[in-house]
Amino acid sequence: MDNFDFRNPTKIIFGRGTEARVGAETAGYARKVLLHYGGGSVKASGLLGRVTDSLRAAGVEWVELGGVVPNPRLSLVHEGVQLCKQHGLELVLAVGGGSVIDSAKAIAMGAVMDGDVWDYYLGKGSPTAALPVATVLTIPAAGSESSTGTVITKEEGLLKRPVNSDLLYPVFSILNPELAFTLPRFQVACGAADIMAHLMERYFTNVQNVAFMDRMLEATMKTIQEQAPLVLARPTDYAAWSEFMWAGTIAHNNLLNTGRVGDWASHDIEHELSGIYDVAHGAGLAVVFPAWMKHVMGRDTARFAQWAVRVWNVEMDYFHPETTAREGVRRLEAWYHGLGLGTRLIDLGIGTDRLDEMAAKGTDGNTRTVGNFIQLDQAGVRRVLELAV
Ligand code: NZQ
Ligand code: ZN
Repeated sequence: MDNFDFRNPTKIIFGRGTEARVGAETAGYARKVLLHYGGGSVKASGLLGRVTDSLRAAGVEWVELGGVVPNPRLSLVHEGVQLCKQHGLELVLAVGGGSVIDSAKAIAMGAVMDGDVWDYYLGKGSPTAALPVATVLTIPAAGSESSTGTVITKEEGLLKRPVNSDLLYPVFSILNPELAFTLPRFQVACGAADIMAHLMERYFTNVQNVAFMDRMLEATMKTIQEQAPLVLARPTDYAAWSEFMWAGTIAHNNLLNTGRVGDWASHDIEHELSGIYDVAHGAGLAVVFPAWMKHVMGRDTARFAQWAVRVWNVEMDYFHPETTAREGVRRLEAWYHGLGLGTRLIDLGIGTDRLDEMAAKGTDGNTRTVGNFIQLDQAGVRRVLELAV
């Protein structure tokens, strides 16, 4: 196990009706906030009204900025930054999914600086301050509700890039599983695929003697594997959504990283798909991850076989562990199919004409590699994309 520091400061407020507490919790940090949300689901469900009732009751004023789209855009971030500066707003309250939360985090950084926040996404400097961010989560998926990350797309050049900073842990996140009841089936499937990916990125490591975290990751993977079909079959099953939502947060709050180095090539490669083709992040991962596995499995067949046996109930073939490992990948693909997701580029409407471009963009013109389990250069990324055709 590697040395590590672990601290996750996000207060999680979990359970039925907990959005009613948003005003009182927010009042502990700010009197005037930016209320940030997406394309309208929070209005249709009545959630936004309950949030503003709670803010009003606590004496918190707000300025609204809706319109965040999946794969959130830089131009709206700039609008939010402007509003925060103009009105002296003290906190960004995100009501929605990963896209809204990531946009809120970008605004929170931009609101306290003079230059363009996009510089951080280009790796030019790191944030030294940010407004506090708080969230009311409506979809278990990205894990942004207690992560250090934000991923934004710049329209010009279709560049989707992440920033990670401890400053971006939300101060609190409200997780009411009931809020997920209204999710479209496709978004449920994408959320499940994203959570599973966050676990697999961490699982496939070269660090040795990480047995405890292996077991934690396997338990969380099994939870998502089991609960995702349940919530699809019974969209108002509170018990199943509770397991799914809490597992989704734990999958990405960095606890399951401790003592190990995750891979993250599949995420980096998926961001190229989302950037150019605007596909849903989870749907992209269901295509990229199996292809990545086929490419890198030989690096540590025993680890892949262990995963296949413990998570996918494959019987161990001691003479041919690679057969066991491959069967694990086959069962993962079958699980995606059962959720209604495709596992090939063509299922996303993506042809083969821009594979070189994605491989070049993903590695900044072959000047950097992606992933840690195996470091992939431009040719490696291209090979993974070919395996996804
Ligand atoms: O915009 P509205 O109308 O709210 O609709 C949303 C959106 O269309 C809808 N939705 C959300 N909650 C709903 C609902 N519809 C009905 N009922 C509800 N309760 O779902 C759609 C997708 O929302 P989005 O926020 O895009 O989903 P998700 O949470 O999957 O976020 C995806 C984004 O997060 C990034 C991804 O790259 C992607 O851009 N990620 C962020 C990470 C982080 N910050 O740590 C890590 C992840 O790996 C990921 O990269
Ligand atoms: Zn993800």
